Amino acid sequence: MPVGSVLVTGGTGYIGSFTALALLEADYKVVIADNLYNSSQEAIRRIELICGKRPEFYNVDVTEPGSLDQIFEAHPDIDSVIHFAALKAVGESSEIPLEYYRTNVYGTICLLTSMTKYNVSNIVFSSSATVYGDATRFPNMIPIPEECPIGPTNPYGRTKSTIEACITDHVEAQRNNLKKQGKDGDHWNAALLRYFNPAGSHPSGVMGEDPQGVPYNLLPLLAQVAIGKKDKLLVFGDGRTAVSHSHGGPYATRFLTELTADYSSKDGTAIRDYIHILDLAQGHLVALNYLRDHHPGVRAWNLGTGKGSTVFHMIKAFSHAVGKELPYQVVGRRAGDVLDLTANPMRANMELGWKAQRSLEDACEDLWRWTRNNPQGYRQNPPQELLDK
Ligand code: NAD
Ligand code: WQD
Repeated sequence: MPVGSVLVTGGTGYIGSFTALALLEADYKVVIADNLYNSSQEAIRRIELICGKRPEFYNVDVTEPGSLDQIFEAHPDIDSVIHFAALKAVGESSEIPLEYYRTNVYGTICLLTSMTKYNVSNIVFSSSATVYGDATRFPNMIPIPEECPIGPTNPYGRTKSTIEACITDHVEAQRNNLKKQGKDGDHWNAALLRYFNPAGSHPSGVMGEDPQGVPYNLLPLLAQVAIGKKDKLLVFGDGRTAVSHSHGGPYATRFLTELTADYSSKDGTAIRDYIHILDLAQGHLVALNYLRDHHPGVRAWNLGTGKGSTVFHMIKAFSHAVGKELPYQVVGRRAGDVLDLTANPMRANMELGWKAQRSLEDACEDLWRWTRNNPQGYRQNPPQELLDK
């Protein structure tokens, strides 16, 4: 008997597929709804290769009203949803904001409408650290606690904060309506999971991030440099200040230019909190269990390690995993980037009993194993020796 049945929207994507795997490994039944806009069904096969169980898959667009009804009809045992389906490219969100609001916000409204119709009342939502915007505008807010006032700086982030508000209002309304009818309203619950920077792959080398287009995140770009698909990494900083560098160690890059970044960190590059994808997936599992066991209403949790790393530190760490120096060049700042997004994960540590277990080095090694074994991502089979393990 499964411990429960979960609908995972966006479940063939990067974080969704790892969460589906974690759920199956914890004996949940998993049904995935995804329109494959940024993923492929091969993710399902890889999940099955690792855990021997196959999630059920529906090719569904969450923005089509009622499109999820068929799933809830076919699976009346589903009592919870983990909602990943979204567009997520920050830069693109400034170019086509309406598409972002349509997919992310309207898609969530369609989902909540279907959930309400079928009395499915637990939702774990993929929010983002980006809702905080520039937390350095407040004193004592780095590392960032959930109490930090939100203030996203781009349309993508504003879709996430809008969805957080939308879910909060809907859950509260449902709880109140049910109570007025003399029914138990406590079973409507939502986890707003604010992820910091997901990183890495499955240690088997069989599952990893496989976006359909060109990556724009730091680690996937570094992986492309390592495998020769890109000639160098562009480090986003101001690029105007000339300094002499003293980056030591065996993997210090000899391509370090006379230009450097100008963020007020110790090496001038921006700071992020990189969290291993397996830890992030585990965070979803424990948040779901918490909703089902404790009925907290709506609660936000940061999922991060609490440890910030600069861009230069990441180049060094990934170069070490690869075993060679990776070229880069400091260029101008990227619009909308902030100095420091490091989580204070205490709330998730205390309430969910969750703590990131894996190191940055694990994430780099796993990403490199995935990249070198799957240079075409899910478009080619992994080497037989990985499958035999
Ligand atoms: P992803 O693009 O790999 O996964 C998103 C999935 O949603 C894809 O499989 C895509 O095909 C699907 N999808 C998109 N539009 C859809 C639609 N209309 N109907 C059905 N499916 C649709 O992205 P990811 O990195 O796995 O991110 C998952 C979630 O986590 C997103 O909501 C994202 O905003 C959020 N998030 C991601 C990060 C990150 O850095 N990756 C950080 C914080 C939050
Ligand atoms: C990390 C650091 C860049 C690329 C984004 C979204 C956020 C969340 C995670 C979804 C930054 C620097 C990057 C490059 C660089 N996603 N960088 N050269 O911007 O922290 O977060 O993904 O919710 O919402 O904004 O991640 O990986 O793009 O950048 O120097 O070519 O690497 O400036 O400091 P980011 P990232």
